[in-house]
Amino acid sequence: MSTNQPSPSTLGVDLTGKAIIVTGASSGIGHHIAGTLAANGATVVLGARRADRLATRVDEITDRGGRALALPLDVCDSESARSFLADAEAEVGPLHALVNNAGVESTDTYLTSDEEAWDRVMDTNLKSVWMMSKLFSEQVIRNDIVGATIVNMSSLTAERAIKGQFAYVVSKGGVSRLTEVMALESARHGIRVNALAPGYIHTAATEALTGSDLAAGFERAIPMRRFGQFEDLDGPLLLLVSEASAYMTGSVIRVDGGHAVQSLTL
Ligand SMILES: NC(=O)c1ccc[n+]([C@@H]2O[C@H](COP(=O)([O-])OP(=O)(O)OC[C@H]3O[C@@H](n4cnc5c(N)ncnc54)[C@H](OP(=O)(O)O)[C@@H]3O)[C@@H](O)[C@H]2O)c1
Repeated sequence: MSTNQPSPSTLGVDLTGKAIIVTGASSGIGHHIAGTLAANGATVVLGARRADRLATRVDEITDRGGRALALPLDVCDSESARSFLADAEAEVGPLHALVNNAGVESTDTYLTSDEEAWDRVMDTNLKSVWMMSKLFSEQVIRNDIVGATIVNMSSLTAERAIKGQFAYVVSKGGVSRLTEVMALESARHGIRVNALAPGYIHTAATEALTGSDLAAGFERAIPMRRFGQFEDLDGPLLLLVSEASAYMTGSVIRVDGGHAVQSLTL
């Protein structure tokens, strides 16, 4: 199975008429799930900094009969986020769902990390989720949208510690907690907020591990004995963006082959 050009899943979820934002859609998981959402009928607005990659992805989606649009977005810049959401609404009409997927890795311990590295990771992975969600929710409330939903991309590392990715792990802990508090605060506006917590998904970003000599040993620590593929996220994502999860909010769904419940005695 190619990890570069995965085929989109259609699981019988009908998102026709729904406009859905995917941040970080220029590569990896966001690139894939933009295709999944479009294949299930959504009009997808792809955001990221690398406009050329977004344009290519939009062409792929529209060639397959999907509806998609790319707009530039730097999630660390609140003015960029504001313009992105305003332009998206102007182009495709009222927005129904936001997938906060953009994220960056970190490769430091708490001792080796510096302020700049901490800020870059926290701004991208955590602060942006709040800012994008705040701006999106303001639009939803103004447009009186029923059934709006936010899906945040957390991580297995939100609940299991790992060395050498200090700011990343802390940021994802924050994303899971933010998901719960936002769910509590947005319920009265009819906005549901949930998160996916993937384990190790085979992407360019995880290639250093999933494609290395360490991969086999690492896979043995995953109860299902394999890394995840993009398609493993499709079902849980479609559940959370659709009415199939109408009574779910504040949930963080693990998609990790059982990694979070790995036995303490291997
Ligand atoms: N892969 C995994 O195993 C795994 C596991 C758990 C959680 N996750 C989470 O899943 C999400 C996607 O990860 P991935 O593996 O697909 O990583 P990736 O291939 O590196 O993709 C990251 C995406 O985020 C975008 N991005 C980064 N900084 C941005 C910014 N300032 N503004 C806008 N977009 C920005 C990038 O686009 P540009 O550079 O073009 O802006 C890119 O499209 C992340 O939140 C990650 O933490 C991944």
